[in-house]
Amino acid sequence: MSALVENAVGFSGQFLSIDYEQRKNYHIFMKIEELKSVLITGGYGFIGSNFIRLLREKNPSVKIYNFDKLTYAANIENLKDFENDSNYTFIRGDIKDGSMLDIIFPKVELVVHFAAETHVDRSIHNPGEFVLTDVYGTFSLLEKMKQHKNVKLFIHISTDEVYGSIKKGSFTEDSPMNPSSPYSASKTGADRLAYSYFKTYELPIIIVRPSNNYGPYQHVEKFIPLFITNVIEERSLPLYGTGENIRDWLFVEDNCKAIMTVIEKGKTGEAYNIGASQEKKNIEVVDMILNYFNKSRDILDFVDDRRAHDFRYSLNWDKIGKLGWKPEVNFDEGLKRTIEWYINNRNWWEKVKKGEFSNFYQKNYKKELQ
Ligand code: NAD
Ligand code: DAU
Repeated sequence: MSALVENAVGFSGQFLSIDYEQRKNYHIFMKIEELKSVLITGGYGFIGSNFIRLLREKNPSVKIYNFDKLTYAANIENLKDFENDSNYTFIRGDIKDGSMLDIIFPKVELVVHFAAETHVDRSIHNPGEFVLTDVYGTFSLLEKMKQHKNVKLFIHISTDEVYGSIKKGSFTEDSPMNPSSPYSASKTGADRLAYSYFKTYELPIIIVRPSNNYGPYQHVEKFIPLFITNVIEERSLPLYGTGENIRDWLFVEDNCKAIMTVIEKGKTGEAYNIGASQEKKNIEVVDMILNYFNKSRDILDFVDDRRAHDFRYSLNWDKIGKLGWKPEVNFDEGLKRTIEWYINNRNWWEKVKKGEFSNFYQKNYKKELQ
């Protein structure tokens, strides 16, 4: 086995020539510091842009290809300082468009696939876009993996939402999938499709399932940035239901480091949960934000609950823990850093809130952004 693993560094033919059981535990051995070329899909979004930033810090010479459609969720200001980076290339394109991908795939050894429609509330209003982007878009990338054998590894970014809600205990990677929303159902389709391309076509694919990320550059449609910026603007805070729902909050840099750990040490055909063990009720998060700004609960607006609102997400992340990763940023510190980022980058989010978002707000909350 170890000789095969040694041989694997060059990849391709060797991978296909070893038998299935060995391939299931196959380790591609990529070192972040030694990477030469990477395709990132959705690199102008929240996690993608944080990932690119961290990757550049760890490897100043890797060629980064950021393939992004620039939907409403993207923000080119997220990577403004990359404009003069000669090893950074942005390609505006849709992952559903295979011909565009054919230009990039021959140039890279690693693909990290973030691009997706990501907001649960939008998936309730417009599910078709989620099926097309999250399922068909992933299919289109996986087809390119079949054609371009130079790519040594494909990391598929899935989500903890594929398991659905859990009252007690935590999901392992082997727990059954039980998604509730068109978003999580589409992500489940993509997750299983990625696995099927490993199993059926013996492609080097690893799946990660992170919990709720928070941190700088997150779109204001999501809970924490929406509530922080609404407090700054002295608007009300639209809390769904009673605020008892629970999420496990993972600082975005920790998630990016976890993905890097999987690139370096993960095994093909495996899925890895990425959790933070920092579960909080939504109302507890709201209180922490209000407390920072010295505000009272008076500005809370208990609005109609989200349809099919998952009560609690909780992951057992022992498997990635065994690869040597653990979260470094606790929620108190991460939330403070996040609040301060939004205070210091008002220009970034004010533009977003004034644009398309105000129409979405009206449609989703049935009221003006007030
Ligand atoms: P985001 O909504 O901030 O960004 C998505 C990016 O994908 C945008 O830049 C957008 O322009 C791009 N994109 C969308 N459709 C595209 C298409 N058809 N072709 C090319 N680019 C396209 O997303 P995020 O929050 O950074 O999430 C990134 C990934 O991580 C997603 O796959 C998401 O499901 C997953 N995830 C997110 C979280 C979280 O808490 N944010 C947690 C777990 C998993
Ligand atoms: O768990 C991972 C997932 O986390 C990712 O896969 C998704 O892409 C990401 O959007 C996120 O989904 P959630 O639905 O958990 O996140 P959101 O920020 O939309 O909501 C977090 C919690 O806050 C949830 O219980 C709903 C609640 N909420 C959210 C909004 C936007 C409110 O009470 N009011 C709101 O206005």
